[in-house]
Amino acid sequence: MPYSLPPSPPGSSAPDHLRVVQVVDRPGIIDLAWGHPDLDLLPVAEIRAATTEVFDRYGPDALSYGRDAGPPPLVEAIRDRLAVTDARVPTADEVVVTAGASHALDLAATVLLQPGDVVLVEEPTYHLAVRILRDHPVDLVPIPFDGGGLRTDAATDLIGRLLGVGRRIRMLYTIPTYHNPTGVTLDDARRRELVAIAAENGITIVEDDVYRDLGYDGSTPPSLWSIAEPGTVVRLGSFSKTLAPGLRLGFLTADAATARRAVSAGVLDSGGGIAHLSALTVAAYIATGAYPSHVDDLRRCYAERRDALLAGLAEHLPDATWTQPRGGFFTWLTLPDGLDASALLPSAEARGVAYAPGRRFYATGDGGRSALRLAFTRYAPADLAEAARRIAATVRDARRR
Ligand SMILES: Cc1ncc(COP(=O)(O)O)c(C=O)c1O
Repeated sequence: MPYSLPPSPPGSSAPDHLRVVQVVDRPGIIDLAWGHPDLDLLPVAEIRAATTEVFDRYGPDALSYGRDAGPPPLVEAIRDRLAVTDARVPTADEVVVTAGASHALDLAATVLLQPGDVVLVEEPTYHLAVRILRDHPVDLVPIPFDGGGLRTDAATDLIGRLLGVGRRIRMLYTIPTYHNPTGVTLDDARRRELVAIAAENGITIVEDDVYRDLGYDGSTPPSLWSIAEPGTVVRLGSFSKTLAPGLRLGFLTADAATARRAVSAGVLDSGGGIAHLSALTVAAYIATGAYPSHVDDLRRCYAERRDALLAGLAEHLPDATWTQPRGGFFTWLTLPDGLDASALLPSAEARGVAYAPGRRFYATGDGGRSALRLAFTRYAPADLAEAARRIAATVRDARRR
């Protein structure tokens, strides 16, 4: 008998073996641990229409192996968008379409790294990027981070020491714009210093730039990629944060030689252009002209949510400290009295709120004990205010004990 799809749409109530999504909300818990977009804000009808348009236009070619570097209509759409949001537009041969930023990072690691290389990572950093890098036989070395982002003074010092003992430093992974997990943005002076340090020492910066479209206060700084000597930076972009993570669609921009190496990596050579149908669909969607206003709507909505969460924290938890993100998904909160955020999580969940403990974002497993990451994207302002109240109540309980 042919397999048939389950009768009801699989969602939060589906049993595990029918679940089709990564995250299922737990009843009664406002879960700020996940750095995901609000699914209710995804343009479902428009993506569906774009899929139809793709089949009308390309017929069976929509189901073919795709062009290695990605279909030209999407490459052009990415270039057009970067012309608006960044300081330099890549040429077509500087763009490679990928299955999200996660795949772009893996691809960059595949083409750039040799066994035994050192990869520098700011700390704290996006914990799942660390997972990807650890799939490669390299040593991760943390660079300190402060309220201004990656500490370029510490980077210089560290690089000098590592080179002094004969280590080969090939890559530096950083999220300079609306950082995950802290929400911090690297200032212009440090951006320029960082690209200079990398160029001087022959280190490739891998710039994770997935939140570029989601700035809430004024302009977004130019990418490291756009201000660096060509060949110094590989930038990772994504449609996961603005369109839909399920598309598995992103891109990298690099100098043409590095882009060519990425395109000739085994995975693209064997499988052709990655996420071909998604790539054509997103190109068709962007061609309707709807993308900029969709992103503007997201920006307004997420800015309001950020403000609601920060106001809730100010009202209920005034003796904690937290970052003031100018974009992205996260604020980073430091608990008062050196409280341990991991130890506190079960009590927080019992009170109906969850977060990501700070330790998770330290590649060496050391640090972030009193910190936690809060994502403000998935809930309405009133729920975020309530989440702040529940965190504050959890902290009060812990202090009484
Ligand atoms: C900094 C950062 N990089 C990469 C990703 C993953 O992006 P993608 O879905 O494009 O693989 C995320 C998602 O949380 C992220 O926050």
